Amino acid sequence: MLHRVQQTVHYLGAAGADDRHATETARILRGLGADHEVIVAGLLHDRAKPAATRLWHRVAGVLLARFAPRVRARLARGGSTFARYLDHARRGAELARADGASDRVVGLIARHHDIPVDDDERLLARADREALP
Ligand SMILES: [Fe+2]
Ligand SMILES: [Fe+2]
Repeated sequence: MLHRVQQTVHYLGAAGADDRHATETARILRGLGADHEVIVAGLLHDRAKPAATRLWHRVAGVLLARFAPRVRARLARGGSTFARYLDHARRGAELARADGASDRVVGLIARHHDIPVDDDERLLARADREALP
């Protein structure tokens, strides 16, 4: 299975700024018994997250999502590091779609900062949380 994942990642041209987080998320998902597509989503979920993302970007993103979602949506449209951070789930999903990922993988990436609505999303959210630096 690992070989298959590596092949897929090679095909998708993955990697990205936060390679350790990506591989750790995938490792945890494997340990939790996730299937191939969920593991691929784990490897790719933060691919569009800017390398220069800072802690305050994450904190502000959570606060805006909770208290000012429309302001958050407006701020996510620009080209700044903060905008690209706020929009990284959607942009990462688009990259994955362009690279030929399945709808399931694309959807998991797109929603990985939303409240999980099914077992796949709960698995990815848990692995993402446990793989935090
Ligand atoms: Fe993320
Ligand atoms: Fe993540």
